[in-house]
Amino acid sequence: MFQPGGDKKVLCAGLICLDILSVLDHYPVEDTDNRIERQIWQKGGNCANSAAVVAQLGEQAEFIGTLATGRAADMVLDEMREFGVEIDHVVMHDGCDFPSSTIIINTHTGSRTIIHADKDLPELTFSQFQQLDLNWYKWIHFEGRNMTEVSQMVNAVQEFNHSASMEDRIIISGECEKAKYQPEYFISTVDVLFVAKEYAQHHGFTTAKAAVHGFHSRVKKSATVVCAWGEAGADAMGPDGVHHHTDAYSPGQVVDTLGAGDTFNGAIIAAMCRSLPLDEVLKFGCRVAGRKCGQFGYRGLRE
Ligand code: ADP
Ligand code: FRU
Repeated sequence: MFQPGGDKKVLCAGLICLDILSVLDHYPVEDTDNRIERQIWQKGGNCANSAAVVAQLGEQAEFIGTLATGRAADMVLDEMREFGVEIDHVVMHDGCDFPSSTIIINTHTGSRTIIHADKDLPELTFSQFQQLDLNWYKWIHFEGRNMTEVSQMVNAVQEFNHSASMEDRIIISGECEKAKYQPEYFISTVDVLFVAKEYAQHHGFTTAKAAVHGFHSRVKKSATVVCAWGEAGADAMGPDGVHHHTDAYSPGQVVDTLGAGDTFNGAIIAAMCRSLPLDEVLKFGCRVAGRKCGQFGYRGLRE
């Protein structure tokens, strides 16, 4: 447990769910009967995955989000504890559907096909977020989902920063992934903007380099833009306007790319917490994400 005066924490606010992976050596043809190689039940959700990576890489990490009570919740929360992630502020709801994803992993290509079920579970609200004592955190990473509430959370952290000393300011990062959630509020407000390939493509960019240049002109002067692009690696640009690129690191055989982006984000946050130069940060992110693609799940990612 974090003690005042000790290391402050990285908080990840967003989705946690149950991922059920069916692992096949091919992608099934519609309306055929297939047999899996194995099935894996594990915690999922962008922010839950990133928090587990941050914790493994040596930072104190906490996750906040909502869950439906029940056995599935016990399972994913136990897994978060095993990763060393604090979950004390997760908001539990009775009588709601449990958020889950059915995922087909094709080990031949490493591709992951996600079918997410997210029916009636309420998202984290601003008033629930306000229960947190912001003095405990050095970094808060938001997933761009319920933006009406999340934008208020970002504002609250910014207000905290205005009255905090330099060393107590919280770094704010935001992930723009799914355009349907309209995460644009992050662009002009966060310190570190994660632009996913899916979001960049939605905005007409065809490479990470173009996306980084495009979004860099729209972020705060002091902000950094980071964009991962699958097998093409990742690019970034910090406040100095210097463009960085790192190729992806091949794990040998790619077996499971599920959560590669979440792993990358977690590794970037951990590396930035160590104040590494941006090109080193990017290399570290790609190394950890590449290693993840060569294995199932998120364990053993520490270098
Ligand atoms: P997402 O999970 O959001 O689709 P990406 O596919 O963009 O994320 O991947 C994030 C990072 O993971 C990439 O920048 C790269 O470093 C790594 N990565 C993804 N796919 C591969 C791959 N096939 N081989 C090696 N590294 C990969
Ligand atoms: C991977 C992931 C999965 C989850 C899905 C939700 O990036 O977070 O763990 O099921 O995305 O979209």
